[in-house]
Amino acid sequence: MRMVVATALVAVSASAFALAQSGARATAGQPSRLGIGRAATADEIKKLDIDVMPDGRGLPPGRGSVGDGATLYAQKCASCHGKNGEGATFDRLVATDSGKNFDFAINAKLPRAVGNYWPYATTLYDYTYRAMPFTQPGTLTPDETYALVAYILALNKIVPADAVMDQASLPKVKMPARDRFVPDNRRGGKVVK
Ligand code: HEC
Repeated sequence: MRMVVATALVAVSASAFALAQSGARATAGQPSRLGIGRAATADEIKKLDIDVMPDGRGLPPGRGSVGDGATLYAQKCASCHGKNGEGATFDRLVATDSGKNFDFAINAKLPRAVGNYWPYATTLYDYTYRAMPFTQPGTLTPDETYALVAYILALNKIVPADAVMDQASLPKVKMPARDRFVPDNRRGGKVVK
């Protein structure tokens, strides 16, 4: 096995060397492909294709309750985000106050968190599934992620304590900050939004 790997490495560095000798650019006379790597399989692409859009496109099948989320949260998230999402070593996940008029720009002390700042509940799924727990991203199942999302939304008093989140219910959750964000479709000039 080791021999095979070594041979392959020699082959690669030999072609890299040839390329370097000739100016390191694919110009006339160079092969259009170097023959390194292979096309990704549909299955490999599917594993990476996890983005969830604001309207819920991309959400996988699965479901999770606030109750299940509470258990998972205590095990996997509380150490960094606080027992009740109030923040600990890292970001708080719960906040309801957004000032008199969404005052984040004028009041630096106002904390920005899921509950008072995020415009879409679906982003919470996307982010958690892709990036958390911080030290083990990619380890949560869709069911676990739906449950954690349900729990964090309940901590923020956005969904009731018996809520269940899934492909259909999550996109219907209206976040308190939803109407505070608008598409920036200005075309220049003195248009203020
Ligand atoms: C080892 C510490 C750690 C653990 C455990 C952890 N997180 Fe995080 N979390 C972080 C850090 C650090 C950030 C900020 C990352 C950044 O800004 O790039 C973060 C950010 C977040 C945010 C975004 C907060 C915001 O408003 O920007 C959410 C939501 C979140 N984590 C959810 C979770 C959930 C759910 C779990 C449990 C499955 C979890 N985290 C476990 C460290 C952790």
